[in-house]
This record gives sequence, structure tokens and C-alpha cells, in this order.
Amino acid sequence: MVKLTRVLHQPMQQRLDPFLMLDAFGSDRPGDYIAGFPDHPHRGFEAITYMIAGRMRHRDSAGHEGLLESGGAQWMVAGRGLIHSELPEQTEGVMEGFQLWLNLPAADKLCDPWYRDIQASQIPAYTLDSGTQVRVIAGHSNGIDGAMQRPHTEPLYLDIDLPPGAVFVQALPPQHNALIYVFRQSVAIGDSDVPAQRMAVLTNDADSDGVQLRAPASNSAPARALLIAGCPLHEPIVQHGPFVMNTREQLVQAVHDFHDGKFDANPAIK
Ligand code: CO
Repeated sequence: MVKLTRVLHQPMQQRLDPFLMLDAFGSDRPGDYIAGFPDHPHRGFEAITYMIAGRMRHRDSAGHEGLLESGGAQWMVAGRGLIHSELPEQTEGVMEGFQLWLNLPAADKLCDPWYRDIQASQIPAYTLDSGTQVRVIAGHSNGIDGAMQRPHTEPLYLDIDLPPGAVFVQALPPQHNALIYVFRQSVAIGDSDVPAQRMAVLTNDADSDGVQLRAPASNSAPARALLIAGCPLHEPIVQHGPFVMNTREQLVQAVHDFHDGKFDANPAIK
């Protein structure tokens, strides 16, 4: 199995609504990840895979496939259901990346499934005078439109690279829930220092209009962090493994449909 660090897990789902899960995966030991994630189903949400390093091949039950490479992302909307595999494709070196689960509104949970592979070169990026580099995977950041925009949950997904001493400011609506996951060095948010491999959950102050990240001058290398935010759905969350619905009855239906082969329909590629 792939070595996973589950950063966001079920007890945090209400607090970080509309986000359901964030996994950090990675290994520099090929034996740890070679098995990947063989065929498995999803229903009722979106999964965003972002590769920092390495290659991951995606295949679905309808025969579509794509290759995710360093710096690229895959945006998958499971909707009413699909079956896919996610298999690392490299024999040496480091594999590192993230998978984020974003909930779908109740009205869209049974939409047609689709996915989009976003190559590294298709992710808009900008550099500030401080040397801070920002990749805008989704949403809007300082006037730059990200590679993906989604209705209802309005996700913001940034990968921020901050040289020692640099400051970065991002506007955030106060009602949106937001998290920061640091994966290189450390980042200061207000009076709090967030070390690597830690998640910070931002408060929802009514009079706040954004967040400021600062890389301590004492960092020995650029800090790197994900900033993820979205508009909460305020709907019931009922999860059983890879199925995330609003009621228990819908979960039972999902399991039945999966066993009846109803997840085999063609996902469309966008
Ligand atoms: Co999957």
C-alpha cells in the first residue's frame, strides 16, 4: 500500500465543510507505493489529486486513462459513481502528492461522472517581488484565475512557495472554511507557527477578509504550503468508505448500485 498521512479525517468534516478528506502520500522507497490504489468505486463527491513529484496512472472502468505527472492535477467528479484505479508509475525516486475530497451539493450527488487531467503547464502561476511563487489549481488568487472553477463550493486550492522572510496575503470570504497544510519548512500565521506535516484550520472571523502567511527568516529553505478554502454546504454528511451521501438510505442504495454493476457507465472526459 501507499504510505498515507491522513491530514483531514472524518471528525473534521463538519468543521472543514465542504472538504471531506486530505491525504498526503509519498515515499522514496518504491516498495512502499508500487501497489498503488487498485480498482475502487466513488460516489457523491469530487476527488482532486495533485502530484508534487512522481507519476500516477489513472484508469477507469470505461477504459479511459490518463497519466498524472509532477506538478499536474486530476479533477474527478464521481457523481453517481465510477470505478477507477490510481497506480504509481515509476521505479525509482520520490513520489509525493495529495488527494483532496470535496463534497458535492445534495442536488448534484448523482450527476454524470467526469474528470479532467490538468497538466503542470496548464496550472496558472505567478511570482511576487518577494520571490513567492503561487500555483493556482482552483479558485482565484490576487487576480489570477485558477485551472478549475466549481460552483456552489467555490474551492480555492493554492500551492505556495515562500522564501525565508516572505509574506503572502490571500483574500478569503469570512464564511468560507479554510485550511493550510505545510509540507516544507514552517509557516507563521499570526502568532502561530505551523511546522511541516501539520495542518492549520483558520478561524472564521466575521471581520476578517483574508489570511497572511509568513515564512520565518530563520527557515533554511523556502517553505511550501497548500492553502485550501471553500464555501460550506451545511448539509448532512453520511460516509461509508468511498461513498459520501446525505442519508443512510442513500448509502445503502450506493452499495446496492455498486454491487449491481451500475458504476460501470462511461465517465465523460472534459
Ligand atoms: Co479513487
